[in-house]
Amino acid sequence: MAQPQRRLEPAAAAFSRGPAILIAAIAALGGLLFGYDTGVISGAELFFTKDFHLSPGGEELAVSGVLIGAIVGAAVAGQLADAFGRRRTLIILAIIFAAGAILTALAPNLAIFVAFRIVIGFGIGAAAVVAPMFIAEMAPPAIRGALVSFDQLAITIGILVAYLVDLAFAAAGMGWRPMFAVAVIPAAVLGIGMFFLSDTPRWLASKGRWEESRRALERVVGGAQAETELREIRTSLEREETVPWINRVRELLRPGLRWALIVGVGLAILQQFVGINTVIYYAPTIFLIAGFKSASTAILATTVVGVVNVLSTVVAIFLVDRLGRRALLLIGIAGMMVTLTAIGVVFAIGPNKAGYFILACVLLYIVSFAISMGPVFWLMSSEIFPNKLRGTGASLSTVANWAANLLVSITFLSLLHAAGNSLTFWIYAFMALVTLLFVWFIVPETKGKTLEQIEAYWRNGRQWVAAPPAEKGLLHR
Ligand code: BGC
Repeated sequence: MAQPQRRLEPAAAAFSRGPAILIAAIAALGGLLFGYDTGVISGAELFFTKDFHLSPGGEELAVSGVLIGAIVGAAVAGQLADAFGRRRTLIILAIIFAAGAILTALAPNLAIFVAFRIVIGFGIGAAAVVAPMFIAEMAPPAIRGALVSFDQLAITIGILVAYLVDLAFAAAGMGWRPMFAVAVIPAAVLGIGMFFLSDTPRWLASKGRWEESRRALERVVGGAQAETELREIRTSLEREETVPWINRVRELLRPGLRWALIVGVGLAILQQFVGINTVIYYAPTIFLIAGFKSASTAILATTVVGVVNVLSTVVAIFLVDRLGRRALLLIGIAGMMVTLTAIGVVFAIGPNKAGYFILACVLLYIVSFAISMGPVFWLMSSEIFPNKLRGTGASLSTVANWAANLLVSITFLSLLHAAGNSLTFWIYAFMALVTLLFVWFIVPETKGKTLEQIEAYWRNGRQWVAAPPAEKGLLHR
């Protein structure tokens, strides 16, 4: 992976790297579907809850079904991508996304609806692992950081598009079914796009298909550079003996490296425990509770949330290598703590026009999340694990992320009913405080460090080594 301090100039250099950008944009459709298929539920929910006569429990199940599938998808994605290739796995996922979209739209009852949402969830969870992996292994080293960040941007764009589509169909009085069906379009583009791409040089090489690997490389970098990178891949593959999965997990639990796992899994869980998806999935419901008069205005307010999420993510991409991960995390988490507390206070005092106060707080909360835990969790989960254990480490933290997501989404409405609106948001504010302490005391600043320095940091009992070793293994993920 490119050195972190080089991650931004890449964004500029990127414009002369057309093929790589196109390839990354196609794969990032995996992120777009992740965002769309998770975001679409917020506007659809108001309608299918009525159609299916759902209790709060049924509503939570309908919202969370996708997350159960995502946990399974994230857990098996690494193995699928190794066995079938990244490209073929993404094509299979595109078919799952397309079929899931149509079948969910046609679901006659809650049970079938939830079953197909679980299927779509499988696609989302697996795409969350494979799409960034595909981009990382395809991208020229100099622009890899910027290109991989496209995936998180695509997630937020997917959420925004979902909100807009929800808004359009709600305004047209067409209900929830077409909202789900629309996902068939990006799914088809992903499938057709991937069909015309080759697999990644690294996967092809791992299967001994060196000629194809060279051609795939030459498409994104020049011939001479392709030659160098091919040598790097060979060295890196020789270094990576094939260790059974369980031994890799054991290796990550050893003293030293254990801290990398704690940071990865800790950030994964806390990213969800600060309550981001109560807003992403339930925003219209929150706005209705806060006093918005109609479903359409609540969905419109939610769309503003989506726009702010995308724009703030762009800002984060430009800041993350300048201010550093820790600074962004600390500023953003403090922002979330304040805004979550304020939401609780507004619910408690209930001033007139509380809806607009809540909207303002939710927007500031989204800015705070989108410049910190949103992109930085995914970034750190791809850079803190040692080369050989990166797939396993990233997969474990991704599973933890979806499991925590499930826990929060499935309990949110019950928590509102049991604890009341204010206490619910104060609980998330408390989790933000825990996150702040976690980052302050445990999360290292990885800005400007090579991946080898980061690996040495864990192995040396969390001490930075003075002399940076040369970057190795250009195409490891
Ligand atoms: C999180 C998702 C969340 C999204 C919101 C991602 O980083 O993993 O759970 O819905 O950000 O933008």
